[in-house]
Parts: sequence; structure tokens; C-alpha cells
Amino acid sequence: MFSNKVVLITGASSGIGADTAEEFAKHEAKLVLTGRNEENLLKVAERCTEVSPKSLRPLCIIADMNKETDIENIIKKTIDHYKKLDILINNAGIFESGSIENTSLAQYDKIMNTNVRGLYYLTMLAVPFLLETKGNIVNLSSIAGLRSFPNILAYCISKASLDQFTRCVALELAPKGVRVNAVNPGLIKTNIHFRSGMNEQEYEVFVEKAKQVHPIGRVGEAREVTSAIIFLASDGASNITGATLPVDGGRHASCPR
Ligand SMILES: NC(=O)c1ccc[n+]([C@@H]2O[C@H](COP(=O)([O-])OP(=O)(O)OC[C@H]3O[C@@H](n4cnc5c(N)ncnc54)[C@H](OP(=O)(O)O)[C@@H]3O)[C@@H](O)[C@H]2O)c1
Repeated sequence: MFSNKVVLITGASSGIGADTAEEFAKHEAKLVLTGRNEENLLKVAERCTEVSPKSLRPLCIIADMNKETDIENIIKKTIDHYKKLDILINNAGIFESGSIENTSLAQYDKIMNTNVRGLYYLTMLAVPFLLETKGNIVNLSSIAGLRSFPNILAYCISKASLDQFTRCVALELAPKGVRVNAVNPGLIKTNIHFRSGMNEQEYEVFVEKAKQVHPIGRVGEAREVTSAIIFLASDGASNITGATLPVDGGRHASCPR
């Protein structure tokens, strides 16, 4: 399905990004994988080569989405290596809790810089190449962009910004043949919550509570987000742009509890 397509995935070293990389690899995509953790990124790249029907080896780029030079390097190396870019998956992101009473400006900046500013800059640099291939973009947003929740304030703001970014850029690029969409997952089992400082016990309680507010009665798996990303990036979604697609077991449709 993605044979000869160059697919750039940020945050491919873990969770949803890693799973998405493997799935694109199965479809013969030529991959660019980015992240900060080199060991993890190389492991993901190895798995991609194993599952790729043509044993294609991904291009791995160590890059921090908070550093402009790293972001510039992602695009430069991608184009130097493959000469084109077809699909951009803006997946790298962080999650942190905090309310208006205890989220410091430093914490706000960290979340907004990673989840919005870095993604904005990478997209800006990628667009000229996506225009050439009439490619597309899939952004990793969240149910926290579509709905409001207490105590994850900066995260909610960052994902709501990303949803608006998705719609606005979709309108700007639609006449030029480039589609832009987002997926909005509910709670998905990855390491993101541990990385935000949650311990095993807190995570267990968090997941149990989440089961009750996701109408489907369980939390999600990375592969369930991957399949939505693959669809939106494919020609099957050729008439879809500016969409924010919930992948949340129906949570967006239910009353908040
Ligand atoms: N899991 C969920 O419940 C959930 C729900 C809704 C939305 N999402 C969104 O899905 C996306 C992926 O999350 P995940 O659950 O797969 O989390 P994850 O397992 O923690 O993976 C996050 C990825 O983002 C990368 N990343 C984070 N900060 C970065 C930075 N400053 N520079 C470069 N890379 C950075 C990480 O790279 P390194 O490890 O190499 O640093 C890692 O590859 C995020 O945008 C998240 O907001 C997740």
C-alpha cells in the first residue's frame, strides 16, 4: 500500500510511534524514524527491517523536538537520503498532569514546545516537499484536544491547539493537494504515563477508572491507533482532510463522569 512512499514518523522509539513504524514497514514504506533514545530507536528500526517485505532499512535520526537545529536536521537528512517526502506522522509528544493552580510556566513551556512548537516547525519545513509529492500529514492529538478534563491543563491546551492546527493547515493545503488529519486517542497502554511520573500503583488505579469512562469498557492498544493512522495516510482516505478522528472506545460521545 505504501510501496515507494517515504514516511517520516516522529517519536518512533516508543509506544504508538514504534507500532506505526512497524505497520508502515509491513506495507513496504521507506521509513524515517526519529526520537531521542538511540537504543530504542535502533531496536524499532531492526524490527521494521525484519517485517519489511523488501527488508528495507529505516533511516534513523536522533532529534529532540525542542531543538530547532535538530528539527532542521530531520528534514535535511530525509531529503538528502530519499530525495522526497510523502507522509509526515507528527507523533512525538509528552503528557504531564497539573492544574491552573500548580502548572508552572516552565512546565507549560515544556509541554507546548514539545507537543506544538516543535511539530509546527517540522511541519513548516516539510510542507514544500509534501506539496511536490501531494502527500499528507497525520497528527497525533488526543481526546484531550476534543474534550475538556481537569488537572491536565497544559496537555489539553496543547492537543486542542493541535486540532485547530490540523483543521487550519488542512484548509490551507487542500487546494494544493495535500491532506492533513489527526487521530484523537483515548487512554492507550504505552509508557507515556510512567514517563510523566506515575508509578505502577497509580497507573493501575488510573486504568481501572479509565475503563469506566470509555464506553467500550476497556482502554486501547497502540495497534488500534496505528490502524487509524494507516487509514488516514492511505489513498483510502483520499476525500478526508481536516478530520480529528477519535480512537477512544466512544469516550468522546459520552457525558463526562
Ligand atoms: N498513550 C496514550 O494514552 C495517548 C493518548 C492520546 C494521545 N497520545 C499521543 O500519542 C503520541 C505518542 O504517545 P505514546 O503514548 O506512544 O507515548 P510514548 O510511548 O511515551 O512515546 C512518546 C514518543 O515521543 C518521543 N518524544 C517525546 N518527547 C520528545 C522530544 N522532546 N523530542 C523528540 N521526541 C520526543 C519519545 O521519544 P524518546 O523516547 O526517544 O525520547 C517517544 O518516541 C503523543 O503525542 C501522545 O500525546 C497518547
